[in-house]
Amino acid sequence: MAEKKKGFGYTKLPYRYVTLYKDGAWDNGVLSEDENVVINESASVLQYAQTCFEGMKAYKTKEGKAVCFRPDLNAKRMEETCIRLKMPVIPEDKFIDAVKQVVKANIDYIPSYEEGGSLYIRPFMIGTSPVIPILPATEYQFRIYCSPVGYYFGGGVNALKLQVSDYDRAAPHGTGNIKAGLNYAMSLYVTMQAHENGFDENVYLDPATRTFIEETGGANLIFVSKDGKLIVPKSDSILPSITRRSLVAIAKDYFGIEVEERQVRLEELADFAECGMCGTAAVLSPVKMISDHGKEYNFTIEEDGYGKILGQLRKTLTGIQVGDIEAPKGWVVDID
Ligand code: PLP
Ligand code: COI
Repeated sequence: MAEKKKGFGYTKLPYRYVTLYKDGAWDNGVLSEDENVVINESASVLQYAQTCFEGMKAYKTKEGKAVCFRPDLNAKRMEETCIRLKMPVIPEDKFIDAVKQVVKANIDYIPSYEEGGSLYIRPFMIGTSPVIPILPATEYQFRIYCSPVGYYFGGGVNALKLQVSDYDRAAPHGTGNIKAGLNYAMSLYVTMQAHENGFDENVYLDPATRTFIEETGGANLIFVSKDGKLIVPKSDSILPSITRRSLVAIAKDYFGIEVEERQVRLEELADFAECGMCGTAAVLSPVKMISDHGKEYNFTIEEDGYGKILGQLRKTLTGIQVGDIEAPKGWVVDID
């Protein structure tokens, strides 16, 4: 279904969910009308970037029902992130209940099925108690806010141009596989460099050998080979995208497409017909070209703006997300 031309920014909505962690336990959590966070100047989030987040979306179905997509996987990924950052885990049932509460409270702001777009949901956690030694905080806030959104890139269907970055996104055995705020802070300089060079995003290579494709700053990469296989880069230092895992299942189970999840060498791009960036924000955005310092790898884009196979996968994914196409069990969760 077509998404209305609308961008991807923050809009203050009436309600956000807030729960506080103190003395080893989370409180019951409330819906708050206050979008501001007041914390100590020496809070661990301010001094040592002890913060992590998730990204997910709620949609309206044709019948006007509010649904969200695979929130259990966001809860599980946040748990892994919190463990790695020495932050307290939000139990999965509390996470999902909080998502439902905050979406329900802002239900009028989910774009209608006809309008297209979605309500972006941003769960995040910060360390709030003061630190000076390099130690985790003892107190935390977990919050979720939402914002109505459309396309992440350029407000419409744009085939994207990416550049191979000279900088690394993640160290070997580092934090590339979790959703830590610090992974994004380090990418800001490189993202602006890409924009200044006329590109939409960066392709990061594996930091140990700089020979394999990792991912972009805010989405995983997937490819279609010239013989029609879905090629999915595998690495321990990329974020395990829920969108990518869903697309792999759709490719196999809905289309019978052969999927290869493996390391992908940069030079192999010459053998691929299609490329896409996949993620909650990116959905499955078409890529027309990746430049490795002037050496261009070009990918096929059809008249509708998408690659042939990735376009079909995108259509099926978005159809599942809004309830038009039958979803595998547990993928689409009712809000009310
Ligand atoms: N990779 C990075 C670095 C991301 O920030 C995101 C966004 O969440 C993704 C991949 C895509 O993950 P998901 O499909 O779970 O949103
Ligand atoms: C998401 O897709 O939810 C992300 O967190 C990526 C970010 C670029 C918005």
